[in-house]
Amino acid sequence: MAVDNAKPEPLGTILLVDDDSINLTVFGQCLAPRYSVLAATSGGRALEIACATPKPDLILLDIMMPEMDGYEVMGKLKESPETRDIPVIFVTALTSDLDESRGFALGAVDYIYKPCNLAILSARVGTQIELKKARDRLQDQNTYLETELEKRLRENQLIQLELLEAEKLAAVGQLAAGVAHEINNPLGFIYSNFNTLQTYNRDIFDLLDAYERCVGETPDAAELMQKIQHLKAEKELDFLRNDMNELLTESRDGLARVRDIIQNLQQFAEGNDNEWQLTDINKCLDITLSIFANGQNAHCTIHRDFADIPAARCLPARLNQVFLSLLVNASQAIDTAGDIVIRTGHDRQQIWVEIADTGHGIAQEHLPHIFEPFFTTRPPGKGIGLGLSTAQSIVRAHHGKIEVCSEPNRGSTFTIRLPIQQAD
Ligand SMILES: Nc1ncnc2c1ncn2[C@@H]1O[C@H](COP(=O)(O)OP(=O)(O)OP(=O)(O)O)[C@@H](O)[C@H]1O
Ligand SMILES: [Mg+2]
Repeated sequence: MAVDNAKPEPLGTILLVDDDSINLTVFGQCLAPRYSVLAATSGGRALEIACATPKPDLILLDIMMPEMDGYEVMGKLKESPETRDIPVIFVTALTSDLDESRGFALGAVDYIYKPCNLAILSARVGTQIELKKARDRLQDQNTYLETELEKRLRENQLIQLELLEAEKLAAVGQLAAGVAHEINNPLGFIYSNFNTLQTYNRDIFDLLDAYERCVGETPDAAELMQKIQHLKAEKELDFLRNDMNELLTESRDGLARVRDIIQNLQQFAEGNDNEWQLTDINKCLDITLSIFANGQNAHCTIHRDFADIPAARCLPARLNQVFLSLLVNASQAIDTAGDIVIRTGHDRQQIWVEIADTGHGIAQEHLPHIFEPFFTTRPPGKGIGLGLSTAQSIVRAHHGKIEVCSEPNRGSTFTIRLPIQQAD
């Protein structure tokens, strides 16, 4: 028969503290088969061992010792973060209730009288070691969960940032489409005008050349006049004079429109995303409207109803993004023709902006979800479903609120409330 002589793994480490070495020997012999046992004959030495590695899982502490008594040792153990969690059992000849309650008041987990029954001592030590091990396991799990939670929070923050970037890009995409359309139009007629002007220019110089030739060839003034009249008629000089002027004026207007669009674009995106500025929200709305009111949204009639509102501290470029998202949603909800009404107002603490449309409205079952990231009812590839969730994050960053009220087939109204003052 094979005999397993290997010593079983100790169930824990116990520090025995007693100035009487006989006690140390007796307790040590009782506990050594199941535990790894350390011993100290003074309070000072006990504190040293308690801080060293391996750290004891339990301390059996005598009270009456010279130099430093057990109560003082206990006080010092509880003072240090390194040792305050080690459970302590007082094992003492002091048997009065007063001593026992003082021991518990100092934080002992048990109190055993000397001389003691070794079986009872062993059982009570066993209970405390099991409790300590369970506490350690819980602590480990807590630490693991806390790290996991922190990791997840960091990951979430990163995802949130990526989403914001994605939405910004999507907004820029929408903008680019609208702006391209707007710039294309004047550029188209400026280009065509220039072609015509080039032909006119050639005609005028042809005419001048012909004049010169006539003057050289024809000395008779009457005949000369006749030839010139004929040439003027042939080149339609009167028409050319008027049309050239018109084409130049039209082209200049077209160029001014391109310049305005570019200026509006600059103002729309103006300012650092993180730069809080005292801002006129009506102006933000006008800038956003100037960008929104392009050919793509021509089926919407815009109505402005702005009140005199105080300047508010905000991130203007971010708010422009919110207003544009709401306007684009409103335009997308209007199928053939409809109205978008933009109102502003304020009370003592808040400014509000209302964007109402006469579009197809939002179904009752969709209302609780529209601010969720990626919720969209638009066909695949048309909407990401980030417009409103981003708008909500931006408004919340301003300590404001965004609310919606909608009736299917009647339209929707989004209201943004922003505090006039921002806490630092
Ligand atoms: N004014 C509105 N009228 C009707 N439905 C709306 C309106 N605004 C939002 N919705 C609904 O809320 C959904 C979510 O809007 P959100 O702006 O977040 O995403 P999206 O417009 O679908 O896509 P994205 O804005 O990312 O291009 C829309 O798909 C639509 O169903
Ligand atoms: Mg949208």
